[in-house]
Amino acid sequence: MRVAAITDSDRPTEIEIGEREDPSPSNGQAVVRVEAASLNHRDLWKLRDDDRLPEEQLPFVPGGDLAGTVVETGPDVSRVAVGDRIVLCPLESCGTCRFCREGPENMCENYSSYDGAFAERALVDASRLISLPDDVSVVEAAALPIAYTTAYRMLERGETTAGDRVFVPGATGGVGIAAVQLANAIGAETIGTSRSADKLERVEAEGLDHAIRAEEPDELRAAVEEIGEVDVTINHLGGPFTRVGVDVLRTNGAMVVCGRTAGRYPEFDARDLYFGHKRILGSTLGTQPDLERLVGFVADGRLESVIAQRYPLDETAAAFEAMRDSEMVGKLVIEPQE
Ligand SMILES: NC(=O)c1ccc[n+]([C@@H]2O[C@H](COP(=O)([O-])OP(=O)(O)OC[C@H]3O[C@@H](n4cnc5c(N)ncnc54)[C@H](OP(=O)(O)O)[C@@H]3O)[C@@H](O)[C@H]2O)c1
Ligand SMILES: [Zn+2]
Repeated sequence: MRVAAITDSDRPTEIEIGEREDPSPSNGQAVVRVEAASLNHRDLWKLRDDDRLPEEQLPFVPGGDLAGTVVETGPDVSRVAVGDRIVLCPLESCGTCRFCREGPENMCENYSSYDGAFAERALVDASRLISLPDDVSVVEAAALPIAYTTAYRMLERGETTAGDRVFVPGATGGVGIAAVQLANAIGAETIGTSRSADKLERVEAEGLDHAIRAEEPDELRAAVEEIGEVDVTINHLGGPFTRVGVDVLRTNGAMVVCGRTAGRYPEFDARDLYFGHKRILGSTLGTQPDLERLVGFVADGRLESVIAQRYPLDETAAAFEAMRDSEMVGKLVIEPQE
């Protein structure tokens, strides 16, 4: 089978198409023909800073989000059968820690997430497969697992309810646009930002209530303050956007953090935090039932995955570049069978 593998994590990034033996399933595993796999910023982190892949792990096939058809199952698999159309829940949990036992499973103390989606075939834990209704396409499904499930859990962790005002700095990428769409679906009012006016127009078409084009955090803060106090900030940017995210919160408001694309070490005024009774909460991924719910939302028309661009496997490197250059609105999808 063909795979897209990172062969060198120094710049310029090398992602090469290589050949691997077709996988065969052991107990509890399935082999999936990958028809769609979506890119996430976490795939880029494998080329950067402290998340950079060590030499000994190269070549490495990245990719956590995949959908396709089951082509083989190992012993002891009853959840899915050959021919089923599925999407993978990329959460890998230990099954024995307190959070695996009591929930939510995305808080697993030994958490990890799947890699290997950018390939013609993928070997997966069959218990993590979710069957797709006929009216959900593999491309729509492959967009959901990491970005949409993370955004869904973040909104839930921030106790977002109808009528809340939700602030999403960086509203054009995977987690950002998902947060806007899902907050809209709850009945919240949404504020989203981007460095690009053109990209914001596309997010407005998805129902964004207030679009702010700004680069500087201070400019951004002023624009949000003009709209009003915020109940929940969904923050995947970190860095200087952390302080803005806290500043604009109303008393007892919540900022939920899942990333740090714009900087590792946030700063904010502690006094603002304690006098404002504000909450800062970390969040990572979501649960398998969360993803099942999202697939259901797509099936019944309440949610549409936003797809920016589709690429054949041969052009995986171009998809990585597009994400690095922040060119897209929504999700970049690789189609390994094309
Ligand atoms: N903890 C978890 O479970 C989890 C799950 C998913 C994602 N994450 C993290 O969340 C972040 C977003 O992931 P993603 O896949 O949604 O990424 P993405 O699609 O690449 O996000 C693009 C968005 O980030 C903005 N952006 C990127 N760099 C920026 C910068 N330097 N300054 C200001 N804005 C910037 C872009 O804004 P413009 O419109 O201005 O270009 C765009 O809105 C990543 O750090 C990722 O690792 C964590
Ligand atoms: Zn666990």
